Amino acid sequence: MKTDFFRGRRLRRSPGLRAMVRETRLAPEDLIMPYFVVDTPDVNFCKEITSMPGQHQLSLARLEARVGAAVEHGLRALMLFGIPKNKDAQASEAYAPDGIVQRAVAMLKKRWPELQIITDVCLCEYTSHGHCGLLRTGDERGEVLNDPTLELLAKTAVSHVEAGADMVAPSDMMDGRILALRQALDVAGFANTPIMAYSVKYASAFYGPFRDAAESTPQFGDRKTYQMDPGNADEALREAAADIAEGADIIMVKPAGPYQDIIRLVRDRYDHPVAAYQVSGEYAMIKAAALNGWIDEDAVVMESLLGIRRAGAKLIITYFTEDVLRKGLVR
Ligand code: PBG
Repeated sequence: MKTDFFRGRRLRRSPGLRAMVRETRLAPEDLIMPYFVVDTPDVNFCKEITSMPGQHQLSLARLEARVGAAVEHGLRALMLFGIPKNKDAQASEAYAPDGIVQRAVAMLKKRWPELQIITDVCLCEYTSHGHCGLLRTGDERGEVLNDPTLELLAKTAVSHVEAGADMVAPSDMMDGRILALRQALDVAGFANTPIMAYSVKYASAFYGPFRDAAESTPQFGDRKTYQMDPGNADEALREAAADIAEGADIIMVKPAGPYQDIIRLVRDRYDHPVAAYQVSGEYAMIKAAALNGWIDEDAVVMESLLGIRRAGAKLIITYFTEDVLRKGLVR
């Protein structure tokens, strides 16, 4: 028998050898943990999100405790979402200097100056109707207005950075928002603050659990007039190109797992760092199967994150960040 065939098994013989030839790895600084902070007088408020076991809506004090523990385990970066006291048509609390995200940023930055604080910039958690932008007055079930929304998004971003945020991440999908944010930040004296753009954000059913967490389900209609159609890949490149031209520093693809081809496309085409968001529905699916004893949670989590990293994402926003750091799965 001829034996001059490829012997791939030679390099798989031992853990040491496998580690030597492993191409893709995760490091703590690749991971970003999302948190939901609630504006509430109840300092001990901590409510588990039913559709996201292990994730909670937290008061400011509870957030502080939770982040403190995560920092002990090596947390380097987090992303903040706020749940305001009141929602209104103008999303007033999104850009209030004493809004919940602004206060949370200030608190975290004071306690952990080295921790990278990224804020999600969007109006959907703050509008009474749950859409990511403004509606025309008297047209409460109508079109989400693009240009009038830009000014409020820019105001929101500036207020986050004034509170101490290291980076802003606009997730609204209005056209021109990166330019609007960049100009407003520059004028406010924050020319050095980077923007992580949710450039390629699909209108995805995988956001369902998040909307429970952030209480941001649209009261009518859906987000398909501003978020992307899941069938499109060329359009992803147009969105990324536009955001880069407008001044984005990091390009994000979202969701992550079902869109790994898009991550690779953006990675190959552009030389900006790519981030991917393993969203709430991706988290919920893994958790649900794990809680049923159907899969090995740690192994599946690591494989899912490695897949996203291998597809081309340098940064991963994932609700598993705390877990994998605490368990030493990423060191
Ligand atoms: C806000 C926003 C959403 C997510 C991040 N920022 C929800 C949405 O667009 O409906 C989703 C995150 C997740 O599902 O984990 N616009």
